[in-house]
Amino acid sequence: MSNYQKLDFWSLKAQKEGYPARSVYKLQEIDKKFGLLPKSKGQINADYKVLELGAAPGSWSLYILRKFDGCGFLAACDISPLSDHNGAGLFAGQNFFFKQADIFAADTQAELAAKGPYCLILSDAAPSTSGDRGLDTARSEELVRAALSYAAVSLRQDGALCIKIFQGQDTAALIKETRPKFKQLKTFKPEACRSSSFETYIVGLGFKKTL
Ligand SMILES: C[S@@+](CC[C@H](N)C(=O)[O-])C[C@H]1O[C@@H](n2cnc3c(N)ncnc32)[C@H](O)[C@@H]1O
Repeated sequence: MSNYQKLDFWSLKAQKEGYPARSVYKLQEIDKKFGLLPKSKGQINADYKVLELGAAPGSWSLYILRKFDGCGFLAACDISPLSDHNGAGLFAGQNFFFKQADIFAADTQAELAAKGPYCLILSDAAPSTSGDRGLDTARSEELVRAALSYAAVSLRQDGALCIKIFQGQDTAALIKETRPKFKQLKTFKPEACRSSSFETYIVGLGFKKTL
């Protein structure tokens, strides 16, 4: 299958399954490989909370809410609004909170921390690409550091983390620095990523709160 057909395949599949973006299949693949989210509804109680940074247009949110099926709690944040493709009902529910804001803002950090602590923190946040790879990777790294600071404050002991990063010259150092804070830390590039893209995901399992 060519790259073009592959792109088309993921987009069409997303459309058919009611997701606002094809990026949902990246999370689905990461979830399948690492078991980020509980497998069954029975394992999700009111204390099971997820924080999602860079959530718009909302495919990951929808994937999580569908898995939750009314249980658990999801807090999500993005500068941009969520998709209104299917009307507000798409994200309706008591167990969902969306904040349209910059994740770097101190008041946003405080508000999201107050809704935690979280069992899982996800960040698919990405800068708008400029075409200058050095600049784009540096901006992505700032977003990764922001997500890590949310984790330092709000991730539960033994919690999990999944953060998108545009691979740049400082990525290896950042991973080395983060590795001791988790029992297991890996990078993973899902099939649904464009093959030309230099994005990958840092997945941390078993957060060591005290380090
Ligand atoms: C690839 S999209 C996320 C797609 C999402 N996971 C989904 O499945 O629909 C990256 C998002 O990061 C957001 N973003 C980038 N910088 C941000 C920031 N400083 N604060 C909040 N959101 C940010 C962008 O607005 C964009 O919506």
